[in-house]
Amino acid sequence: MHHQKLDSFPSDFLWGSASAAYQVEGAWDEDGKGESVWDKFVKIPGKTFKGTTGEVAVDHYHRYKEDVQLMAEQGLKAYRFSISWPRIIPDGNGEVNEAGIKFYEDLIDELLANEIEPVVTLYHWDLPQALQDEYLGWEGRQIINDFTRYCEIVFKRFKDKVKYWVTLNEQNVFISHGYLAASHPPNVKDPKRMLQANHHANLANAKAIKLFHELDIEGQIGPSFAYGPTYAFDADPKNQLAAENREEINANFWMDIYVYGRYPKVAWKYFEDNGIAPTIEVGDFDLLKEGKPDFLGLNYYQTATVKENRLDGVGAGKPNYTGEKGSTEESGMPGLYKEVSNPYVEYTNWDWAIDPSGLRIAMRRMTSRYDLPILITENGLGEYDRLEADGRIHDEYRINYIRDHIVAIQEAITDGVEVIGYCTWSYTDLLSWLNGYQKRYGFVYVDRDESNEKELKRYKKDSYFWYKKVIETNGQEL
Ligand code: NOJ
Repeated sequence: MHHQKLDSFPSDFLWGSASAAYQVEGAWDEDGKGESVWDKFVKIPGKTFKGTTGEVAVDHYHRYKEDVQLMAEQGLKAYRFSISWPRIIPDGNGEVNEAGIKFYEDLIDELLANEIEPVVTLYHWDLPQALQDEYLGWEGRQIINDFTRYCEIVFKRFKDKVKYWVTLNEQNVFISHGYLAASHPPNVKDPKRMLQANHHANLANAKAIKLFHELDIEGQIGPSFAYGPTYAFDADPKNQLAAENREEINANFWMDIYVYGRYPKVAWKYFEDNGIAPTIEVGDFDLLKEGKPDFLGLNYYQTATVKENRLDGVGAGKPNYTGEKGSTEESGMPGLYKEVSNPYVEYTNWDWAIDPSGLRIAMRRMTSRYDLPILITENGLGEYDRLEADGRIHDEYRINYIRDHIVAIQEAITDGVEVIGYCTWSYTDLLSWLNGYQKRYGFVYVDRDESNEKELKRYKKDSYFWYKKVIETNGQEL
């Protein structure tokens, strides 16, 4: 489909940017906050780059006003951030911590005073450690009610101020990395436990959405999913089938349940045959159907290219649990496909495929299969940036990356996809979970490394000024 002229962006398009609590806030044990599973996990030797933690992060907790001023000056229309559950309820299901609520209330008020739309993520991976200790977190069914109670508290407090809500951030990532790769908490390698935890996450997601709708809140809610479409390496039917396998296991399996309240048949059969399908209780599918999202949040970084897994090489048949390439969405299906490099695209210094067309394809596939509006909740480029002596950061590689992806969105809109907004990842530089602070995504550079000694001074990158223009012209000037 080739269009001569591209449609313009809607006038209320949300030009935004995003972050997550553990990656920016710091203040990990201040003002009554409880310990999260990440606070604990990063202390396991060898898990993160040089043992980096988010204990200070970029100190957004104390500098949020300065950060919001930078956003206001840039003209940002929306800021996506996450609420840390253990700040609101330190032990996960007991007393509410007013000081925690106050921090987010102040942040939201500061955003609104500057005409920036808050987009609130309810869960960006920092589960209260107490719930992990009490009933194994996502593996216990009690998480469904505890998560919903936490959401209810937050909904009721902020319903008059917040219109856009994200339930779970990248369920496919925190579940597969947490329970299969053991590269995230709770540090488990067990596909059966993974799928059971995943089933509970689906139920918790649905129950929170159902409650949101019952409370009649004026606003929209949906999950954010890490979707990178799969390409077959070539027209060999075996490689095409491998690509189908990956789409079924890495995309349909996760998104069908959100929208239709069912697991797709091929994925389900595969899990059953391997003895790892989750236990389902009576009523589960009813609840899953009752919690249909209003939109789908899309976190897009790259596509994956696959070939058939012939099971005859070194390590044949062994699942690639470390998922080096495309690790943001890998859920590790032994024998169904193997990931290879795509000769048609370039790779970043972190070996992520740069593929703007993949974003257009993702949006179109999601629209054909689910027919819901899309909010791009993340997209961006992680790189080693260089702070020059004059305080500038010349990140034209990031400008190019974001520009090309914005064009892809405009093409998708022209194709007929409905898009609410676009949040880049990330606003300021922040903790890159396992990679410390060397992998940077922000419009705003933060002067820090893996030690906690630096002053955390903020600097505007060239991309900051470029995106300001994009917002001002509603995407006309790229
Ligand atoms: C997805 C996650 O939501 C975010 O927390 C992470 O830092 C980025 N992608 C980059 O990997």
